[in-house]
Amino acid sequence: MKILVTGAKGLLGQDLCSYFEKKGYEVIRTDFENLDVCCEKMTKKFILQCNPMVIVHCAAYTNVDRAEDEINQARKINVIGARNVAKAAKETGAVMVYISTDYVFDGAKNSPYLPNDKPNPINVYGKTKLEGELEVQKYCEKFYIVRTSWLYGYSGRNFVSTMLSLKNRDEIKVVNNQRGCPTWTMELTYGIEKLLNLPYGIYHICGQNSATWYEFALEIFKQLNINANIKPCLDKDFPRKAKRPSYSVMANKEKLNLTRDWRLALSDYLRLYKNNFIDNY
Ligand SMILES: NC(=O)c1ccc[n+]([C@@H]2O[C@H](COP(=O)([O-])OP(=O)(O)OC[C@H]3O[C@@H](n4cnc5c(N)ncnc54)[C@H](OP(=O)(O)O)[C@@H]3O)[C@@H](O)[C@H]2O)c1
Repeated sequence: MKILVTGAKGLLGQDLCSYFEKKGYEVIRTDFENLDVCCEKMTKKFILQCNPMVIVHCAAYTNVDRAEDEINQARKINVIGARNVAKAAKETGAVMVYISTDYVFDGAKNSPYLPNDKPNPINVYGKTKLEGELEVQKYCEKFYIVRTSWLYGYSGRNFVSTMLSLKNRDEIKVVNNQRGCPTWTMELTYGIEKLLNLPYGIYHICGQNSATWYEFALEIFKQLNINANIKPCLDKDFPRKAKRPSYSVMANKEKLNLTRDWRLALSDYLRLYKNNFIDNY
């Protein structure tokens, strides 16, 4: 099977490509330099030439705070980019997997968000990602919209690496009034692989069960047997440009078992990369 991945140099793209390559799939890695998804002509030409069976669209504008000031740029990448890929997917007959986010929800619910719950994003990033979802549904027939959340993985800066870089501080304050589902990039990748056998539509793929950022931090240090002084705080103690939903836990309607409990996934991740962490932090 030939899989084309956009945003292949990103946090998710790198881990996802490595996995599918190891499984023996033909993977076409693309990123800004060889396939700028904002350019309709280039996107169409590139995708028609490669003629992939599946396109996993990871490319995105992901800086949640900066997006508040760079609305046009965020919209160009997350909306026009998604539209261009969706149109090309339709033309080649490829299946499109569009990676979306828990930030399409406002956080007002107090039970897990289901795929058909009404989105109501409260920041620019979430709005543009939702508009991207709508473009995919408009232009493409064979699509999976995959909402995920709180990603961490091998490459790039993420919550786990940030916490470890702070471990020697006298005190680490971590937000305890935002709840979501931490998700390992590999767990999401396994989920996407399983999804390819399911009907097209909108799915939530994130670690099962939930945590606050504070609980997530406690678990990281507990699993690594590191004594760190972590203290809960409120999001207002760390004022940020973009609002975040206070509750963005997601689930699927049926028990699909696309992922495991987030703590189990975290333990596999930490076991795999423990030596890197000890060397680097
Ligand atoms: N990280 C999370 O916690 C999280 C949570 C929920 C959903 N998601 C979604 O998951 C997907 C992957 O996220 P990620 O964390 O892996 O993001 P990331 O690390 O920022 O990777 C995105 C990649 O897309 C590339 N890109 C940007 N503009 C492009 C363009 N015009 N054409 C082609 N490539 C372009 C980026 O290149 P540059 O670096 O050069 O800009 C980067 O390599 C995104 O759709 C994101 O919205 C992420």
